[in-house]
Amino acid sequence: MRPIKIAPSILASDFARLGEQVVAATDAGGDYIHIDVMDGHFVPNITLGPVVVKSIRPFSFLTFDVHLMIESPERYITDFVHAGANILTVHVEACTHLHRVIDQIHSHKIAAGVAINPATPLVMLEEILPSVQEVNVMTVNPGFGGQTFVTEMLDKISRLRAMIDARGLDVDIEVDGGVDLDTAPRCAQAGANVLIAGTHIFAKEGDMRERIDALRHAAEKTKREPKARVASKTKPA
Ligand code: DX5
Ligand code: ZN
Repeated sequence: MRPIKIAPSILASDFARLGEQVVAATDAGGDYIHIDVMDGHFVPNITLGPVVVKSIRPFSFLTFDVHLMIESPERYITDFVHAGANILTVHVEACTHLHRVIDQIHSHKIAAGVAINPATPLVMLEEILPSVQEVNVMTVNPGFGGQTFVTEMLDKISRLRAMIDARGLDVDIEVDGGVDLDTAPRCAQAGANVLIAGTHIFAKEGDMRERIDALRHAAEKTKREPKARVASKTKPA
């Protein structure tokens, strides 16, 4: 069984208390800390760089899932690795030599992911799929938190899960943007297994653990198991 993972996105947290917020998400049962890096070029917003990642690294033992929404990300891979990233995700739209960038990430012995914008077709991933550990399916146009989930992406997630299963690969599907109690189970049903959520987790009053648990339980109920793994279970011993 592939468990659902929850990745609180610190973009929606209080940046004036970033360390505390990372501790809170860790204590509340998050699986990853999702960190959005924006450069004001690839996306129309600017957030943070390796210096900030390094400064929050001591606040959590969780996997740092760093989402690079930047042009020419190859210039900064080493800096983010040294800052403490465990997964580095680059956008297919931002890399002229995507395979080389993925190799560069792997040369540091960490996991590599590729993110894909809502309007970019899945065919752009066909050749790189065997080389990555995860695909981040953007369910909003990247750049800002708190946007509305693009419903058409559910079909894209299903088709991506089918592509991964048909090749017998072990690749996580992350969903990023507008993930809440309504959309999370639909994403899991379509085949996503890592749910990134900012607004749902940080920008609300009350108990953060309850919100993370609720997201996880809603998705666990509907999740679709990867075919390759289901098939291997039925193989004779
Ligand atoms: C958007 C970012 C997301 C963002 C999601 O460009 O990649 O990670 O934080 O935020 P919510 O959950 O608020 O849509
Ligand atoms: Zn993100």
